[in-house]
Amino acid sequence: MRTPVIVASVLPADFSELGRDVKRLENAGVDRIQWDVMDGRFVPNLTFGPDVIAANRTHTNLGFEVQLMVDDPDPMLGRWVEAGCQIIIVHAEATRHLHHTLSTIRGLGARAGVALNPATPLEAVTNVLHLTDLLVIMTVEPGFGGQPYLAQMEPKIAAARAEIDRRGVEIELEVDGGITTATIGAAARAGATAFCAGSALFNGPGTMTDRVRALRQAAAAAMQHN
Ligand code: DX5
Repeated sequence: MRTPVIVASVLPADFSELGRDVKRLENAGVDRIQWDVMDGRFVPNLTFGPDVIAANRTHTNLGFEVQLMVDDPDPMLGRWVEAGCQIIIVHAEATRHLHHTLSTIRGLGARAGVALNPATPLEAVTNVLHLTDLLVIMTVEPGFGGQPYLAQMEPKIAAARAEIDRRGVEIELEVDGGITTATIGAAARAGATAFCAGSALFNGPGTMTDRVRALRQAAAAAMQHN
């Protein structure tokens, strides 16, 4: 019986108080932190580099995953590991040699993640799933937080779950974008087990702990029926 993994995006955090907000997220009960790295080319937005992540490494014991929304991520792969990330997620659309990129990430001792934009079919990664530890199905167009969840991605999530289970491999299936208590159940029923949320953690009713608990409970309730 899988249990839901709640991943916190720091995109909505107060960038002048990142260490404080990372600690807040840990105290609120999230399972790991996602750093949304954006280069202003692969996505219009621009965020932060490895030094900012490294500066926050000592503020929490949580695992770090870095989502590289950058063109040609290969030259910098080692820097994210040095910054304290255990999972490196590249976009299938952003690297010309995905097989090599994922192999390199594993060679660095990190878990290899690959993310698919909404328009990218699952077939883009079926030949590299043997090199993949985490598959991220984007449920928004990458680049900005606070966007509406794309329910049209649920067939892709379900197809990914079916393929992972058919192969009998340990690949974590994560969704990212527009994840709230209103949408997390559908994503879980489709087969996701890890849920990346930003806006829904930093904004909403009650405390951040309440919001993490509400997301986790909604996902767990849906997963019970899978
Ligand atoms: C998009 C980002 C967002 C972020 C979460 O590039 O990856 O999906 O993590 O954003 P919310 O939870 O605000 O939709």
